[in-house]
Amino acid sequence: MELHVLDHPLVEHKLTVLRDKNTPSNIFRELVSELVTLEAYEATRKLEVTDKPIETPICPMTGKHLAEPRPMVVPILRAGLGMLDGMTKLMPTAEVGFLGMKRDESTLDIITYANRLPEDLTGRQCFLLDPMLATGGTLVAATHYLAERGAKDVTAINILAAPEGLKRLEQDLDPSIDFKVVVCAVDEKLDEHAYIVPGLGDAGDRLYGVI
Ligand code: URA
Repeated sequence: MELHVLDHPLVEHKLTVLRDKNTPSNIFRELVSELVTLEAYEATRKLEVTDKPIETPICPMTGKHLAEPRPMVVPILRAGLGMLDGMTKLMPTAEVGFLGMKRDESTLDIITYANRLPEDLTGRQCFLLDPMLATGGTLVAATHYLAERGAKDVTAINILAAPEGLKRLEQDLDPSIDFKVVVCAVDEKLDEHAYIVPGLGDAGDRLYGVI
C-alpha cells in the first residue's frame, strides 16, 4: 500500500476552515470539492496514456491522451457523493459508478446497500471516494469488491484518515492489490464511536444536513 499525504499551505488552510464547526454546509461542500481536485492531481499521477498524433498550428506532433478503458470513479454513498464534482472537474471523461456502503453503528460491520458498477472491471484504473478513512472497514470491503471484478489498480481519495484505519488497510487488504491512498491529513485517533479526532464531525451530515 502506498500512502500520500498532501503537504501544501492551501490544503492546510482549506482543511482548517472545513474542520471548523461554524462553517456552514454550502462552504463545506465547496471546500470538499476544492480539496478533492487538489488530491485528484496527485491521485491520478499514474493514469495510463497513449500516443495521440495531432497537428499544432505550426507542425504535426505526437501528444498523449487518456488510454482506454476509461478510468472509473466510485463515490461511496452517501458522503462520497460530495467529492464527485471535485474529481470529475479534473477528469471529465471518467466513468462513474456507485457503491452504497455504510457502517452498522452498533456492530461497526459494513453493509453494502447499493451497487451501480459494471460486473467486469478488467484493466480499469479505479478511484474510490470517501471523505473519512476512519476504521478502514468500508475501504477494505470496497477495494476487495473492485479488485474481485478485475480492477487493475485502486486509489482511495479521502479528506482525513485515522491511524487506526491506515493500519487496518495494511493488515486486511490483499497485498496483491495495487492500492494507493491519498489524504489531506492523518489525524490523531478514533474516539469510542469511531469518529476521527480532531476530525470534522460527520461528513455526510455536514455536507447534506442531518437526516
Ligand atoms: N465518518 C464521519 O463522517 N466522520 C468521522 O469522524 C468518522 C467516520
